[in-house]
Amino acid sequence: MSAPTRRPPRAELLAALETRRSVAAAGLSEPGPSPDEVRRLLTIAARVPDHAMLVPWRFILIEGDARAEIGALLAQAYRAGNPDMAPEKREKFAGIMSRLFPAPLAVVVVSRPNRETMIPVVEQEMSAGAVCLNLLHGVEALGFHGIWVTGWAATNEAALRIIGISEGERVAGIVHIGTAKEPPMERPRPEVEALVTRWTKRD
Ligand SMILES: Cc1cc2nc3c(=O)[nH]c(=O)nc-3n(C[C@H](O)[C@H](O)[C@H](O)COP(=O)(O)O)c2cc1C
Repeated sequence: MSAPTRRPPRAELLAALETRRSVAAAGLSEPGPSPDEVRRLLTIAARVPDHAMLVPWRFILIEGDARAEIGALLAQAYRAGNPDMAPEKREKFAGIMSRLFPAPLAVVVVSRPNRETMIPVVEQEMSAGAVCLNLLHGVEALGFHGIWVTGWAATNEAALRIIGISEGERVAGIVHIGTAKEPPMERPRPEVEALVTRWTKRD
């Protein structure tokens, strides 16, 4: 048998992985991905490690007019859920909830672990997290920008019902996708070597 041959490094892929940056949802505008590009993005997102092939995640797309419609419902839920808050403060946050989807497309990555199997729920939830990151890498590869967020809408019971999350499911992430209004600046990154120890045999 011949010795294994290493594949040549892919410079463009490495550069993308080494420079990926998130852009806040408010900094994302048109154009967004076309229907074909959305299909491609979701196919890339779904190509993640998945112990026992349980597919423990699904997608909810929020785009077009649905963004304002769901925003209005979320704002209403925020008001209803905070009756004792000072009205000025409540209106400020309700306004934020009404504009929660400014980018052309938001993909809600829903974690739906299968509790009937031997595969731990945490592993299935990590697979859903991997979906979010793969989606971001796909977004980068197609020339768009995005960001993975959670926040009130991803955890509040009333908001989850509005988004369409069922019992036993959780929001792994809301990934906003669009074209960056401004190129993102770099942010500080961890010194990787400081995070590394090398295992050595102890006597
Ligand atoms: C699970 C998860 C939830 C996050 N939620 C938020 C959020 O709600 N709002 C936010 O501004 N950033 C959030 N972030 C951080 C951003 O996704 C992003 O990592 C950050 O803006 C740094 O940018 P970078 O991806 O270019 O390093 C979250 C990250 C993760 C992994």
